[in-house]
Amino acid sequence: MPHPDNSAHSLLGQEQTCPRDADGQPRKFVSSRGAYVVDTDGQRWIDLDNGRGSVMLGHADPEVAEAVARAARGELGTVTGWSPLLDRVLQRGSALLGGDVLALFRTGTAALRSVVHAVLAARAEELGVDRPLLLSAGYHGYDPMWQYPDQPFEVNEEGILHFLFELDFLEQSLRDNKGRIAAIAVSPDRGALTPEWFARLGELARAFEVPIIADEVKVGLRHAPELVMRSLDPDVWIVAKTIANGAPIAMAGGRAGLLDSLREVSFTSFFEPTVLAAADVTLGRIAGGEPQRAIAENAGAFIESARAALTAADVPIAIAGDPSLFHFVCASPEVEDAFLAACAEQRILLFERDNQGVSEALRGEALEDLRARFDAVSAALAGRWSGQEIDELAWYRAAWRSIDGLATRQREPGQGRELVAQLWDE
Ligand SMILES: Cc1ncc(COP(=O)(O)O)c(C=O)c1O
Repeated sequence: MPHPDNSAHSLLGQEQTCPRDADGQPRKFVSSRGAYVVDTDGQRWIDLDNGRGSVMLGHADPEVAEAVARAARGELGTVTGWSPLLDRVLQRGSALLGGDVLALFRTGTAALRSVVHAVLAARAEELGVDRPLLLSAGYHGYDPMWQYPDQPFEVNEEGILHFLFELDFLEQSLRDNKGRIAAIAVSPDRGALTPEWFARLGELARAFEVPIIADEVKVGLRHAPELVMRSLDPDVWIVAKTIANGAPIAMAGGRAGLLDSLREVSFTSFFEPTVLAAADVTLGRIAGGEPQRAIAENAGAFIESARAALTAADVPIAIAGDPSLFHFVCASPEVEDAFLAACAEQRILLFERDNQGVSEALRGEALEDLRARFDAVSAALAGRWSGQEIDELAWYRAAWRSIDGLATRQREPGQGRELVAQLWDE
């Protein structure tokens, strides 16, 4: 049966992540420009979701749109084969991120699946074992290979052990499985994990001679024109959301010896020029670091005024992370539900219960507009939970939703496992 509002979304046999209303129905949009998207009722929303953080330059960025239009008119190559445009995209990727070899994919999920299988194959041979283990932290896509076991800290059917960013457990696993670990795959997050966390990860990987796969689909190139894990010199890296302003492309690179079997990977739309055109312009812009700097400044200004508004209204909501990628920490589920409803009322479009990634287009009048709307959100919630504290569990819970694991916060040895037990089934 079609949905009563004549929408075709109920035909879709997939549950897409997207902004939804309070009844769980997808919100529908007819256009987008800069920091705004417009819904079917003509309402203008300020977008903090930005295609789950994939639109870094702003919607319908004129330079990207012009290049994509040229490509669509057939002026920048052809889906049939190689083009100078592809050479440019590869050169830009290599200049920014290095790696002996590069590979292109359509989605982050596809990139991770291929890259991890390549690394598993190479390391199985190197270690002389049939099925080496992969130690993993963070989200790497919807593929069933990443499924979580029934209990935390158990190996899944694919030989993947999610260590949930718990370094004590990682260290123990490296010790217990010496000679059987293919690699450590990590989706880093600068807001939830401290520099000390990254340093210790690097020390462990070096001490046990295990390669690191940096899954930087979300964060790579977002804060600056480099990998978040650059100082760890990862053996393999993947970037995606920051490289084409929302167009479907992911790029991987790294040590040739680990990625040999990627030679077998080919797909029909590989040379599709509109996607490459979007990547060419976006990579060119972010290589200079200006979009990242502007986002840090403008999102930073928003966060500062949002914090002040929440404090003045005595609303128990904090903001964690950094301006490039931040999340709201609500004192309780009740506070969170009211907050999300108030944001919707003000037409602030959030990546609900996850991290917000603003674009370079949030500046000037759009920034002032967002501040005014957020002031109205704070005023609407003022005084309703006076004196309520944000406890440690609330901080961990909010971070867990954006990183799929434990944030680094002050805790007693052994407390990590208790926290995992509390958050695992939520
Ligand atoms: C760290 C990370 N890896 C992989 C993926 C999967 O990417 P995609 O949604 O393009 O398949 C995501 C998506 O959010 C991600 O954040």
